Amino acid sequence: MQFTVAIDGPAAAGKGTISRALAQEFGLAHLDTGLLYRAVAVKGGDPVATAQALLPEDLARDDLRSLQAGEAASRVAAMAEVRAALTEFQRSFARREGGAVLDGRDIGTVICPQADVKLFVTASPEVRAERRWKEAGEGSYDDVLAQVRDRDARDQGRADAPLCAADDAVVLDTSTLSIAEAVAQARALVAAKLGR
Ligand code: C5P
Repeated sequence: MQFTVAIDGPAAAGKGTISRALAQEFGLAHLDTGLLYRAVAVKGGDPVATAQALLPEDLARDDLRSLQAGEAASRVAAMAEVRAALTEFQRSFARREGGAVLDGRDIGTVICPQADVKLFVTASPEVRAERRWKEAGEGSYDDVLAQVRDRDARDQGRADAPLCAADDAVVLDTSTLSIAEAVAQARALVAAKLGR
């Protein structure tokens, strides 16, 4: 069976949590595509050459999750050639037997426009900044909010594959939802599509 779930949205909207829950519930493989851009940024060197030579083990590095790595990732992600170098890996992951869920910024719009289920998970910048700030357990809320706004502007404003909801995506605003509520709504969509 091939079955693709595309989950897009800005940083800290809940994409990762929802993706992992869906993958577990429906036995789908999961790819957090942000890790690809983070790995390119953290590995360093010429970003295009690094993206072209990226290896699966690069995604397992333990230094990819920091706020700084996210910032750096959004800079290399604005380069069209970097994105092009990472496209086929994502598309072949999406086609894998047994089905897959991919989360990122452009999965429903560019990588998998034919995805079976498309979700755009979002939340207000203030709510997302508060989540990131609490996770980090240090620093100032205002700084994190400024970073969230900067990253949104860069991801939405770039020329190639900007962050936006696909026309046929279901928008899930998690600003006032609990994790359980958000996951339940996403699960219901996938279950309906699978006829379960
Ligand atoms: O989702 P995450 O915060 O790990 O993504 C880091 C950065 O990588 C994003 O801010 C975005 O610029 C970039 N990205 C992207 N396309 C994706 C996934 C991530 O441009 N599909």
